[in-house]
Amino acid sequence: WNYHVTHFVTSAPDVRHLPDDTGAEVAFAGRSNAGKSSALNALTQQKSLARTSKTPGRTQLINLFEVTDGIRLVDLPGYGYAEVPEEVKRKWQKSLGEYLEVRQALKGLVVLMDIRHPMKELDQQMVTWAVASEIPVLVLLTKADKLASGARKKQLATVREASLAFMGEVQVELFSSLKKMGIDKLSQKLDEWFTE
Ligand code: GTP
Ligand code: MG
Repeated sequence: WNYHVTHFVTSAPDVRHLPDDTGAEVAFAGRSNAGKSSALNALTQQKSLARTSKTPGRTQLINLFEVTDGIRLVDLPGYGYAEVPEEVKRKWQKSLGEYLEVRQALKGLVVLMDIRHPMKELDQQMVTWAVASEIPVLVLLTKADKLASGARKKQLATVREASLAFMGEVQVELFSSLKKMGIDKLSQKLDEWFTE
């Protein structure tokens, strides 16, 4: 698929406000500030398709983008951000959980983790849950440009090894929106999921 023609469809506070549950969707999940929205922009080669921010918690709604008729990408609210009020946090986690649980169109989950702080408890929960629900997962270690090449490779090996124990057979790749690293791996995986 040509991801460059992706366009915004709608934002929804919860699953009930999303368009019909038909076609195929791949969702981008991860802790707040992991680089989900930036990854979507890098993939689609659009500067401001998804809104990004230095402030964690920027994406508070489920944002839907359409690649082409019936093929969608989803920017999910981040999890694990401590600084937002408990009430707001509860609301996000609820809509996130509901989306993952009920959405039939969901064909794959991209879980993004900052390469400097991967595999936090909520990340592991997210991947474990997806594997248990038979939703295919791709883990991207984001902001790979923040580490020197040696440290980067070492961290990749560490996460791959640790993920075997915690999450089973899950593909883990390096990614950088800034340096356009890992975009081919991502689009290949999306093509695969959207073709199945
Ligand atoms: P929430 O919507 O709050 O959950 O965050 P998010 O996961 O969508 O993160 P976002 O894409 O908004 O990026 C957060 C911050 O990280 C921004 O300041 C980005 O510029 C920065 N960032 C994202 N990707 C990269 C990357 O590949 N390299 C570097 N160096 N910075 C990045
Ligand atoms: Mg975001």
